[in-house]
Amino acid sequence: NYDKEVEILLSKMTLNEKIGQMNQLNFYEMNDELLEKVKKGETGSLLNTTDPRTVNLLQKAAMESRLGIPLLIARDVIHGYKTIFPIPLGQAASFDPQIAETGARVAAVEASENGIRWTFAPMIDIARDARWGRIAESPGEDPYLTGIMGEAMVKGFQGTDLSDPTSMAACAKHFVGYGASEGGRDYNSTSITPNALKNTYLPPFQKSIDAGVATVMTSFNDNDGIPSSGNKNLLKNILRGEMGFNGLIVSDWNSVGEMITHGFAADGKDAAMISANVGLDMEMNTELYIKHLKQLVEEGKVLETNIDNSVRYILKLKYRLGLFSNPYIEVNKPTTTYSDKHLQAAKDAAIKSAVLLKNENVLPLNETQRIAILGPMADAPYDQLGTWIFDGNASHTVTPIGALKSNKDYKNLKVIYEPILRSTTDTDTSNFSKIQEIVKKTDVAVIFLGEESRLSGEAHSLSNINLIGVQSELLKEVKKAGKPVVLVIMAGRPLTIERDLPYADAILYNFHPGTMGGPAVLDLLFGKANPSGKLPVTFVREVGQIPLYYNHNNTGRPAPDNAKTLYTDETNAKQTSVGDVSFYLDSGKEPLYPFGYGLSYSKFEYSDLTLSSNVMGMNDTLTMSVTLENTSSIEGTEVVQLYIRDLVGSIIRPVKELKGFQRVNLKAGESKAVRFTLSAEDLAFYDVDMTKKAEPGYFNVWVGGSSKAELGDTFLLE
Ligand code: IFM
Repeated sequence: NYDKEVEILLSKMTLNEKIGQMNQLNFYEMNDELLEKVKKGETGSLLNTTDPRTVNLLQKAAMESRLGIPLLIARDVIHGYKTIFPIPLGQAASFDPQIAETGARVAAVEASENGIRWTFAPMIDIARDARWGRIAESPGEDPYLTGIMGEAMVKGFQGTDLSDPTSMAACAKHFVGYGASEGGRDYNSTSITPNALKNTYLPPFQKSIDAGVATVMTSFNDNDGIPSSGNKNLLKNILRGEMGFNGLIVSDWNSVGEMITHGFAADGKDAAMISANVGLDMEMNTELYIKHLKQLVEEGKVLETNIDNSVRYILKLKYRLGLFSNPYIEVNKPTTTYSDKHLQAAKDAAIKSAVLLKNENVLPLNETQRIAILGPMADAPYDQLGTWIFDGNASHTVTPIGALKSNKDYKNLKVIYEPILRSTTDTDTSNFSKIQEIVKKTDVAVIFLGEESRLSGEAHSLSNINLIGVQSELLKEVKKAGKPVVLVIMAGRPLTIERDLPYADAILYNFHPGTMGGPAVLDLLFGKANPSGKLPVTFVREVGQIPLYYNHNNTGRPAPDNAKTLYTDETNAKQTSVGDVSFYLDSGKEPLYPFGYGLSYSKFEYSDLTLSSNVMGMNDTLTMSVTLENTSSIEGTEVVQLYIRDLVGSIIRPVKELKGFQRVNLKAGESKAVRFTLSAEDLAFYDVDMTKKAEPGYFNVWVGGSSKAELGDTFLLE
């Protein structure tokens, strides 16, 4: 496990050399100054260099340093390197960890060819606020699903052996709670209680740690007044202690220095002292460690033993990655980027990530129909890739229009294409006058709307999440032509589309589908593929309902399911109140679409939920079996979901919690028994004393196709 090698090397290092390892620099350009820093051992890692020849030159300089310690070369490779997969929120909609693992593996193979051996992914923040731009990069609102998708990405990035030159060290981020940024405004403070931290925000990190994630990144936010990069309890007691993480902890970009702006550190020296003392091993970008740590050690404010510990983690990772024996990249190797295999995997992911929200007998289309294709996202090679695609090249993107032109299966379609708007933010309506004429010449209109990629991602939060600009007006105009309208949305977040529903007969939600989004969408529209995605996040009706998530606690006054809003009917409109319940008078308590929801061209029916027993001992397992039948004439895949509710707890338990899911493929007319098993461990939670245990008592269990699953039973845990 390289402990011996690490100790031998550490014993030879000067304090300066040790501190140099803890310093991560951004690569801006190759110059003598940088090479000199590397040769002197003043940096342990560089981020953002992607040219293998440059990487080799830098590694050569590092190997010429006094002790010959290679560099860690890092980059944000989030949902693909060159071949871009759907944004992580989209991948989570597949409810298929294999999609995430394959996507991460493809990314690792392509990125490592260019010298990148460390990625800052997976992002496993729980995201329950669609205003937050980084929801795009998260697997959504649910700790269980997020944990599973994160674990799969760790496996994909790291492979089975980190020393394999195609493996990258993964980084579980952002530790912790960044997704709870107040008001969905990026970088904002959070107020996560100790219990919510343990039951909601930490479990996905534990899963990544158990899967062997090599590194963890601290988050930008302060929780309850303490920025993560200076939070001793979080990093030392929880992450290192309780969670048993023994890899490298890196800061986020400038997050150490930003503790000064937060008002937590007095100056750069103070910030360096705080972070080093809470065990933050590597500092990204601000060079505060390299500037101040030596003096801090000399003054006795930071112990050299702390520095040694951090350096151990860094050196160990370099050994594990095989960098000491081979720091160089083979430059003339044939590239795998955009290989057929990778593109096919990206297409498969885009198909499985799409969620069919509505379908009133319009989809699938048939190839004899004359089709009007409209909207700014029908041919938006850059924007369909989504956020965090530093290296994805839009010239390789296949858009729906590109796929129509290049795919022989669709070459003979009778299509009229007119984008009407140049981009999703274009507000010039002068082309609206063309719409009626175009659509009237066809049998069906397919309109591609959504968000250009710059509308989501880091520092891209929104306070209004309707379709931006004049897109809703465009949709209305299209509907006026009297033809069926299919709305395809490509976006980085769940948008508030309730007002658009009356004007769309079918809605296919693609999130940002990546390089192969075009062919994937066409296959879905024409029934060569059958939609199977399910929402990894609740779709609210109104932005003012946020936060609205399925796994909330019950209030003492929950609104009944059929509670009417002021606008439901005449009688209610005259009322001033709908009862003393937890409720919005105008938008109610229900989402537009619940977590786990998604349609298919097939029809699935659930029946015969059977429990192996209605009483379960603490050491027993309980098996649930349900019959799933495909009652349609189309083969399809259903994501079967298992939910529980712990009815009485020493702290209130959520009204529903996802505890299992399976993708089940059924031929037309076929039925299958689907089984899930639960143990007491699956029912355990951190209680009022912060002890993790399952509490005896009654539980509800439901199995179905969304978080609204109704087929249920009850069991007693003894
Ligand atoms: O990895 C990212 C992080 O998620 C946000 N800030 C910048 C880092 C490095 O690019």
